[in-house]
Amino acid sequence: MIFETHAHYDDECFDEDREELLSGLQEKNVGLVVNVGADLETSVNSVELAKKWDYIYAAVGCHPDEVEGFDQESLNKIKEMAINNDKVVAIGEIGLDYYRKEGKDFIPNQKTWFRKQLDLAYELKKPVIIHSRDAGQDTYDILKEYITSHKDIVNPGVVHCYSYSPEMAKEFVKLGFYIGVGGVVTFKKAKKLVDTVAQIDIENILVETDSPYMSPEPNRGKRNNSANIKYIIDKIAEIKGISSDEVERITEENARKMYGL
Ligand code: NI
Repeated sequence: MIFETHAHYDDECFDEDREELLSGLQEKNVGLVVNVGADLETSVNSVELAKKWDYIYAAVGCHPDEVEGFDQESLNKIKEMAINNDKVVAIGEIGLDYYRKEGKDFIPNQKTWFRKQLDLAYELKKPVIIHSRDAGQDTYDILKEYITSHKDIVNPGVVHCYSYSPEMAKEFVKLGFYIGVGGVVTFKKAKKLVDTVAQIDIENILVETDSPYMSPEPNRGKRNNSANIKYIIDKIAEIKGISSDEVERITEENARKMYGL
């Protein structure tokens, strides 16, 4: 079965047909899904989805683009949710995003909430789902500090929708992180991600769609859903020179290990 490690089915673009879509995914070989929160509201929604659907689990946390309205009270609520719901399997997505470049004032604030949520993940013994865009070095530095100060962490988490160099991927892997590979790997201009997949072991890769975003070829530009993950698996199989079944099986194992399922 396919383990979809990152989706946002609470997104409003699924409002019209969410029920129908989610009731059909398992027939399409998608056996497990982690629905990921990006702020307080979407974290609550993720937990609700997990309560409703057996095969859906939840991650709760605050995305770097959403930290402006986030405060200690919000963090406490995230913590309560994670403690009180056994289907919360990770803290995320959290991290750094320097893509919107108006001034640098937002950076210290992003770093503060990134670190606080890492501390929460450690306290609750949960893996983290890292969102990192145009902030590779700072993300690495903070995660390295996190890992070296907590030597007992076994499965720290995943760098989701990985977009940096193969060399940097190897450094994240050395820290114990999985590399999340999404639809971009199927794009024509995806050389960097293709090289990354070629250069790291399949045992360090998770597959994900980030639905509704990032649809792989041949559905690029359309609303994404987890059934499209097969195109990502096929592409990884082609790069690695192994069968798609093997990629499916190993990435499922990897994800089960990371999320403890
Ligand atoms: Ni996401």
